[in-house]
Amino acid sequence: MADMPVAPQSHDAHAAIRDLVGLLMPVVYHDRMPVPSPSPDARAVVTGASQGIGEALANELAARGHHLIITARRGDVLQTVADRITARHGVTVEIRPVDLTDSGARRDLGNELAERNISILCNNAGTATFGPVAALDPEGEQDQVALNVNAVHDLTLAVLPGMIGRAGGGILISGSAAGNSPIPNNATYAASKAFANTFSESLRGEVKKDGVHVTLLAPGPVRTELPDASERSLVEKLIPEFLWIDTEYTARVSLDALEHNRMRVVPGLTSKAMSVASGYAPRAVVAPIVGAVYKKLGGD
Ligand SMILES: NC(=O)c1ccc[n+]([C@@H]2O[C@H](COP(=O)([O-])OP(=O)(O)OC[C@H]3O[C@@H](n4cnc5c(N)ncnc54)[C@H](OP(=O)(O)O)[C@@H]3O)[C@@H](O)[C@H]2O)c1
Repeated sequence: MADMPVAPQSHDAHAAIRDLVGLLMPVVYHDRMPVPSPSPDARAVVTGASQGIGEALANELAARGHHLIITARRGDVLQTVADRITARHGVTVEIRPVDLTDSGARRDLGNELAERNISILCNNAGTATFGPVAALDPEGEQDQVALNVNAVHDLTLAVLPGMIGRAGGGILISGSAAGNSPIPNNATYAASKAFANTFSESLRGEVKKDGVHVTLLAPGPVRTELPDASERSLVEKLIPEFLWIDTEYTARVSLDALEHNRMRVVPGLTSKAMSVASGYAPRAVVAPIVGAVYKKLGGD
């Protein structure tokens, strides 16, 4: 019986497997790479760090040993936050008081970040308005897009080449459960967060092989502390206390998720329920129901 031509076939098969492993290895390897460890010349950047989730992210990053650059508009408040963090955790905290709705300010900050060793970028600053777009201040709505969309995009593009060049980095983007579905009476915010959500989850797939982690934070209601009943905003009055989650918990689980390159972190019951509901219910059904709730937030 003539020899079966096993050798060439097996050689081809081995070569194919080797090629496949070669292709997959960097993906597997980089996927398991942690975000860069703290180092004296590296900086973790947090936008919107003067209060709320951003302040908690800055504090948690410092607790993990990262030196920081923190940004917001109010320089005096930023300085107080920076001093408190340095006193508590002994890290360097640089402040950058910038209005990120201003394209020139975004460009200057982006140029600086592109030159620095940025290990982590938390694109967190964001604002929301409630009510029908036609009744809202057009400039305010445009500023909201500049902050929630353009600042996220510009600063991410600024740090990406450096992170890819160093084969390491982490980008956390504060999107929202509100970006999962249409929300009448919160249209600009919902649309801006749809951008943040989709940009984050798309980018993650592109840079995974380069060792850069990208995680979307998509929370529901988060607060530092619930104010006195007399001082509560309409949002705070409408959402029952047990559904709120705190900023420190949000920061901790978000940075853990970034470390593991999770696609999306959804802290809290409300955001999980919103995410599930928007994933299964038709948009035409969801929009009027959610819109009716948000109409109240617009003051009607
Ligand atoms: N809290 C929630 O329930 C919740 C839920 C879902 C998603 N999110 C998202 O999570 C992020 C943080 O939310 P948060 O509730 O912690 O926000 P927040 O308490 O309102 O704080 C917003 C931060 O952004 C800064 N900021 C506002 N306008 C700015 C501008 N034009 N230029 C630069 N910085 C500006 C503010 O500082 P200055 O005023 O000093 O500028 C502040 O540090 C946002 O993107 C938000 O959409 C929050």
